[in-house]
Amino acid sequence: MPSRTYAQIVGWGKYVPSQVLTNDDLAKIVDTSDDWIRTRTGIVERRIAEPRETTSTMSIKAARAALQVADVTPERLDLIIVTTATPDYLFPATACLVQDALGARRAGAFDLLAGCSGFVYGLGVGSQLIISGVYQNVLVIGAETLSRIMDWTDRNTCVLFGDGAGALLLQASDTPGGVLSFTLGADGSGGDLLILAGGGSRHPASAETVAQGLHYVRMNGRQVFRFATRIMGQAAKEAIQAAGLKIDDVDLFIPHQANIRIIQAAAKQLRLPMDKVFVNLERYGNTSCASIPIAFCEAIEEERIKPGDHLVLVSFGAGLTWAATAVQWPVPLPAPRLSSWKRLLRRVGYRWAWFVSRLRRTYRKLNVWWGRAAGRIRGHNNG
Ligand code: ACO
Repeated sequence: MPSRTYAQIVGWGKYVPSQVLTNDDLAKIVDTSDDWIRTRTGIVERRIAEPRETTSTMSIKAARAALQVADVTPERLDLIIVTTATPDYLFPATACLVQDALGARRAGAFDLLAGCSGFVYGLGVGSQLIISGVYQNVLVIGAETLSRIMDWTDRNTCVLFGDGAGALLLQASDTPGGVLSFTLGADGSGGDLLILAGGGSRHPASAETVAQGLHYVRMNGRQVFRFATRIMGQAAKEAIQAAGLKIDDVDLFIPHQANIRIIQAAAKQLRLPMDKVFVNLERYGNTSCASIPIAFCEAIEEERIKPGDHLVLVSFGAGLTWAATAVQWPVPLPAPRLSSWKRLLRRVGYRWAWFVSRLRRTYRKLNVWWGRAAGRIRGHNNG
């Protein structure tokens, strides 16, 4: 009988910008207070990208860290999925910018948009491409520069969000475990509850859309809150059942880090004690697609995940969407550190990828220039 293939998580990495914006800092910008934000959301501070940082630059840092943990070279990647609501551009995909910077020559690359649920959607897609035998190594990244789409005069939204990136590397393995199940869902009738309306085909960017602030996030917080408290527990239960597990089997619950009250409501619905729930939103706020992979990395750093543990990741977001997955963690921790010469080799590899990328761009420009010059010469000779 042919052996089954499993999708194991073998690498993990995160990047958060160094600039910290506290609740007190925000109280100087909008009519809010540290007390209001803490009690209504649990958030204390968040990270804000520097002007030179973008979703792709943060993704690249998280991706490199994940590849280093797994000791996998970029050439071995089959697919890169960047899940984000704040890509560098509408196109090209941010995943292609990451592919180029890593020098992942064999990899396909695309962005996936499913609101804050994007990362768990990405894990679902990536794991199935591995389990079906199509791919060996799939890198799933969640990254956001939400500070760029915030209306910094709107206290209903700007206090909630932050920037950052996280990445998990999925790899084919015959060791049972890894991504055991997933459930994905959507209810587009709630699309207008959390929306960035400008810049798409319905409201192409214009002076008018900018004047109306359509390039900023607009949210009906109360409605999203109601939806989230209902759906998180339900989605988690579905993923747990689909994996053949019981709620008591769950060792760590890693929910989307949007609001501590939403997380507590989900834990209550599942009858999970809060010591089985990973929370780090006080430090980062809601980083949308990046929230689960960043939390995952920190759970590993804090030794909250042990070999054999069953983890449940669950998210909700714009769309409206929801997604949950059950994972069994077999990797012995802590991960082995790469030797210094291997790390050096990696750095050289990334410089080389940068050089090759520049060379390709220059070659294309020269090609265009040569085509034009040849045309002119032909025209001159014919004339
Ligand atoms: N500071 C002070 N007061 C505020 C602030 C603020 N930052 N924001 C709102 N208020 C006021 C409101 O104006 C309102 O005043 P009013 O009663 O005079 O109208 C009052 O506080 C209470 O507002 P509520 O909306 O009832 O507050 P609530 O307890 O629901 O908390 C919150 C608001 C935090 C936004 C909550 O509804 C929530 O977390 N919703 C979910 C949001 C979310 O998770 N979004 C991300 C989705 S994932 C994705 O795809 C990105």
